[in-house]
Amino acid sequence: MSDLYCVFGNPIAHSRSPAIHAAFAAATGEDMHYEARQAPIEGFAAAVAEFVAGGGMGANVTVPFKEEACRLSDRLSGRAARAGAVNTLVFGAGEIFGDNTDGAGLLRDITANLGFPLAGRRILLLGAGGAARGVIAPLLAGEPAALHIANRSADKALRLAELFSDIAPVAAGSFAELAGKSFDLVINATSASLSGESLPLPGGLYAPGALAYDMMYGKGETPFLQLARRQGAAHCADGLGMLVEQAAEAFFVWRGRRPQTAPLLAELRRQISP
Ligand code: ATR
Repeated sequence: MSDLYCVFGNPIAHSRSPAIHAAFAAATGEDMHYEARQAPIEGFAAAVAEFVAGGGMGANVTVPFKEEACRLSDRLSGRAARAGAVNTLVFGAGEIFGDNTDGAGLLRDITANLGFPLAGRRILLLGAGGAARGVIAPLLAGEPAALHIANRSADKALRLAELFSDIAPVAAGSFAELAGKSFDLVINATSASLSGESLPLPGGLYAPGALAYDMMYGKGETPFLQLARRQGAAHCADGLGMLVEQAAEAFFVWRGRRPQTAPLLAELRRQISP
């Protein structure tokens, strides 16, 4: 029988993870089966227990269970502890190990796929929820010149900046306070695109050659990227590459093998292009 993996979420029907991991397994010759499992909102722990009892060896975790998966883990990787969230579980030896590959996936997409090194760059991170928190330590590890967090609720941005101030100084504030500042990389980690909303960002944010990166993706350009293009961002990228790279990193955690991502990313890009 193939080794069993899954992704937990709610909703989960439209997840691309089963197709991504099936492609990785086929490309590497790993004998594994990966399926989507919808856990009840109040029943995540029970769903995990049932999956483990049925022989499950590992799982991805997506919205809205990443923080609960962190609490459920017996042991955490350093990056999951920092993120306060888990997107990759490993079941074995009677314990649940929790890891988080989101930040590594973002970094790999930006630096390797898009060829945009972070060292010495000024980075603006928009949002102060779970998605933003998960990528701060990996971004700081890239040794940017500065990291600034801006959020609709400025107090949440300030609290988040404080949480990571032992690694490096992090500035924080409201969207309005961004007026007059400019950045080389602007990352959207808010969920505003989900509801088709744009962010109230002042003009002049994008330095020459800057990259606008939306952690969301969809058919067509997201509202954030449409605004970035109008505001003069030299380069725009959505989160499809991050999705594939966080999956590749999870695959590596489970199987010790790193699948190639470029062919799959090109295929997914073709599928979602309008
Ligand atoms: P996630 O896990 O996706 O980060 P979350 O923890 O609920 O989800 O955080 C959502 C983030 O998107 C928050 O930063 C939120 O801003 P607030 O902290 O002010 O609520 C941000 N967000 C969601 N919708 C938004 C909108 N329409 N405009 C601006 N920010 C928005």
